[in-house]
Amino acid sequence: MNETPHPPPPALAALITAGAGRLHRYPSNTAAPLIGALAGRLGVPAGQVLVGPGSAGLIQHLIQSLGPARTDVLVPALSFEAYPLLAANAGARPVPVPMAGLDQDLDATAAAITGNTRCVLLCNPNNPTGTALRRDTLERFLDRIPPGVPVILDEAYREFVTDPDVPDGVDLARGRGNVCVTRTFSKAYGLAALRIGYAVVPEPIAGPARMTGAVFFPNTFAQDAALACLDPAVEAEVTARCTALAAERRRLATELSARGVPVADSQANFVWLPLGDTAEEFTARCAQAGILVRGYPGVGVRVTVGTAADNDRLLDTVTAVAPR
Ligand SMILES: Cc1ncc(COP(=O)(O)O)c(C=O)c1O
Repeated sequence: MNETPHPPPPALAALITAGAGRLHRYPSNTAAPLIGALAGRLGVPAGQVLVGPGSAGLIQHLIQSLGPARTDVLVPALSFEAYPLLAANAGARPVPVPMAGLDQDLDATAAAITGNTRCVLLCNPNNPTGTALRRDTLERFLDRIPPGVPVILDEAYREFVTDPDVPDGVDLARGRGNVCVTRTFSKAYGLAALRIGYAVVPEPIAGPARMTGAVFFPNTFAQDAALACLDPAVEAEVTARCTALAAERRRLATELSARGVPVADSQANFVWLPLGDTAEEFTARCAQAGILVRGYPGVGVRVTVGTAADNDRLLDTVTAVAPR
């Protein structure tokens, strides 16, 4: 599920262990220390920051609080497979927008907006294709759509981006009243099990969302660990891991291509292999070798970048199937 292969930094594990003696106490119901720290780090007012049980939970909650008047949520047709479920759970109707090849099609998305559009969901970089929207394309899109249509920009994999033309969504959203950015501590920070993510949203959207959020979320450990992640020493460690992972991503892509396997250009911690009809066979071969990849029958295969040893094992499996 695109988790990092690295366990959380040791400082975080120690914090969780130490917190076990406080389990009888409720978490902060405002998460004020974490929200304050995130706001400071991102250079936005605290009133624009929401935290929640993972970015998936936050996306569902945002879709819900943007309703119920308009029903449609535009989602890219080949994207995070939870989007249709999150929209439906929030009382909305997911409307898939066709892709332009492996990319999200922002012209088609703009054309699909109607008076019944509750919001638009975009994923940057996109899961499962790993492809990313560049600054120009995104800005042009945001400039031309009606300003009253909220856009939720899901940046779950932002920390793995290496191309400077892929914009920082929080920067892109500054001064715009309709752009919500969601991020997570699950991937780069290695806290998937704790369920904590955050969103930066315009204050008129944040206010009602804050009022309808579940009480006592996120839990104490999640809040404390996320706060600790913002410590400069931990941040530096996480950044170094992301840089190393991006280098492994490049190596994996290069080596797969050299073995005749098609690989899409990825800015995330996974690579997408557009294998079409052979996707199922590739997935099955990997499973036989004890490697779990995510197959999309008839479309492609998503491979999460692992440790160098994990990636070597995958490459060995591919070599065995299709020798150079
Ligand atoms: C694009 C995307 N958004 C959100 C999530 C959910 O992350 P979280 O653990 O923060 O709920 C995932 C998890 O795989 C994802 O791929």
